[in-house]
Amino acid sequence: MSGPLVVDIHTHVYPPAYIDMLRARKKVPYIHNPSDGGPPRLIILASDDDSNIPVDQRGRPVDSSYSDIKVKLDFMNKHGIDCSVISLANPWLDFIGEEQASEWAQKINDDLESTCAQSNSTAAPSARLRRLFAFGTLPLGAPSPAAIADELHRIKTLPHLRGVIMGTTGRSQGLDDPNLDPVWKALEDTQLMLFLHPHYGLPDEAFGGPEIVRRYGHVLPLALGFPLETTIAVTRMYLSGVFDRFPRLQILLAHSGGTLPFLAGRIESCIAHERTFKVNGGNVQGPQRDIWDVLKTNIYLDAVVYGTAGMKAAVEASGGTTDRVLFGTDHPFFPPLNEEDEKWASVVTNYSAIDKSFEQNADAIARVLGGNAIRLLKLA
Ligand code: URA
Ligand code: ZN
Repeated sequence: MSGPLVVDIHTHVYPPAYIDMLRARKKVPYIHNPSDGGPPRLIILASDDDSNIPVDQRGRPVDSSYSDIKVKLDFMNKHGIDCSVISLANPWLDFIGEEQASEWAQKINDDLESTCAQSNSTAAPSARLRRLFAFGTLPLGAPSPAAIADELHRIKTLPHLRGVIMGTTGRSQGLDDPNLDPVWKALEDTQLMLFLHPHYGLPDEAFGGPEIVRRYGHVLPLALGFPLETTIAVTRMYLSGVFDRFPRLQILLAHSGGTLPFLAGRIESCIAHERTFKVNGGNVQGPQRDIWDVLKTNIYLDAVVYGTAGMKAAVEASGGTTDRVLFGTDHPFFPPLNEEDEKWASVVTNYSAIDKSFEQNADAIARVLGGNAIRLLKLA
């Protein structure tokens, strides 16, 4: 095979043990078996937890693509993907109580490691890269932040793990919580990449109430709620000085940073027009580093943006370089509605946005499709 190496850095799994746990639950997140014998339904989003929707119709159908790694490998083959960096899908371990958080994180991370090791050992000799690596998951609900840092140091020792995925709530107080400092420190010390990903969206009221949300299915929560959630989370980190205190953090933002590339100038302008911030009752200075410097030094953006306007904004916000933007698919989410479709429209659209944004610049295309991921995550 020729052509640039392709690495998918945004691709999820629910390991079988996690699926079993969801099946045993009766409140969000959970898996429900409809009474008509139809496919089980995955109910993870707050907007699906709506008693006005019949329980058999809530959420979305869940099939083996969510947990069976053979299905992932078939999807990769069909879409020309050489290597995937798999991550647990939302809502990760956010809902697991403090007694079980560390045990679940270890179980998931060990499972990811052995899944990668096994598929790499059986990969065809023609494979141009090892087929699977992973982002681990963190026990954010553990009794102390030290336990989270410990798991980060353990993840660093697992050969196929190259970073961690995390949602936006941290230890339930958001990512500007000073209790997360030991986690930021451990991320700096290990130089593991943090993949920051949304799950909670915005309250229904932001869209006009639950009836409006219901009217349009998942469109408002996923198209708008998810990206704004990411934008708010990373902006709170920035405002609270996380990037001043931990200038070596490496963070990959899902969905091309939500709306951060577009709004960075406005964020900077609003900060410049504010005096000081109120933290713990006192007046403190705002962030010391400028947001463009943080974007060029600490932030990477995935290319899961489905169009050239978003792709060009991502490159522009990264300092005009294609070195910080990385291809992804968001598999197994957004499957084609028509089962006969050979390729997934969501993936084809993202490939095409990359081709159209960089036109004939083969080097830029190769960097975004795989070169950046190989270099940053040491996949070669
Ligand atoms: N993409 C995700 O990663 N999660 C969802 O729930 C939907 C889309
Ligand atoms: Zn995703």
